[in-house]
Amino acid sequence: MTGFASREARAAFIAGLPKAELHLHIEGSLEPEMMFSLAQRNGVSLVFENVEAIRAAYDFSNLQDFLDIYYQGMAVLLTEQDFFDLTTAYIDRAATDGVRHVEIFFDPQGHTARGVPFANVVGGIARALAEAEARGISSRLIMCFLRHLSEDDAQATLDEALPFLPLIHGVGLDSSEVGHPPEKFARVFARARDLGLKIVAHAGEEGPPDYVWQALDVLQVDRIDHGNRALEDAALVGRIVSEGLTLTVCPLSNLKLCVVEDLARHPLRRMLAAGLRATVNSDDPAYFGGYVNANFIAVADALDLTRDEIVTLARNSFTGSFLTSAEQARHLAAIDSWAAG
Ligand code: ADE
Ligand code: ZN
Repeated sequence: MTGFASREARAAFIAGLPKAELHLHIEGSLEPEMMFSLAQRNGVSLVFENVEAIRAAYDFSNLQDFLDIYYQGMAVLLTEQDFFDLTTAYIDRAATDGVRHVEIFFDPQGHTARGVPFANVVGGIARALAEAEARGISSRLIMCFLRHLSEDDAQATLDEALPFLPLIHGVGLDSSEVGHPPEKFARVFARARDLGLKIVAHAGEEGPPDYVWQALDVLQVDRIDHGNRALEDAALVGRIVSEGLTLTVCPLSNLKLCVVEDLARHPLRRMLAAGLRATVNSDDPAYFGGYVNANFIAVADALDLTRDEIVTLARNSFTGSFLTSAEQARHLAAIDSWAAG
């Protein structure tokens, strides 16, 4: 137990550590209780009888198993108030976990395809994030394109987003990875870059190292979401290290989606040892069994992470964020002050 007297002492250190969360799908923070109450409020019928039945269905063998349930769950989200309530509930959890800054993904196509106006989605999320700012939690919003849909669909979504660009800091790429390589979206990402948006993409979660190369070379990403399978290619690791790109790693997600067999075999320590700027994130916490601190504590226990490794992960969460360097410096000083005891 390097640097700590006990697991409990390590968990307490993690709990109080200032941190940023850089990989959080807001729709993936929809807890079963809220899914039920929104279903009632909106007159939407669910296939599940109760909250326990919903939780029991969260037994996934791969990413697609999860996505099938995730898209079903988000069907209860209709009004601006729904998106506000969802985001406020996440911010409450994040505040408890010592999160000082969040970069939140949302999946507009999962809503507009059901007839929900784009303005309801962005408006509700942004209103909650403005309130979070007043509570001392800063944020950035990242609009993701669903990669199982066409590039034309992504282009139409970017068109719809144009009036809201002051609220949107970047674009990402998520949903079913295998069979939908980054190069499928080359043109829409080039357009987003020209609009001055930051670029991120899920790559190497289930997909091969070649998809991570494409995220770098074709999409020109500013950050890589997951990136686990980059470790299979030493030249790729060298490239990511030399560019200083951050990986947003999601330990409990990796476990629940069978990306890793066991958290004791999670590649997080190997990533840090290779010089990769890894961070710890919750991905879809309502589905994967824990928010950011639970992710930190589970992976720290499984890998017996040291105090230095934990501090590095927290520092990376700010240096890998889209905050200005002055804002990053303020958070890094808060980490140093917590670590100094
Ligand atoms: N959408 C929500 N969570 C996701 C994940 N872990 N991978 C790909 N798409 C997602
Ligand atoms: Zn994700």
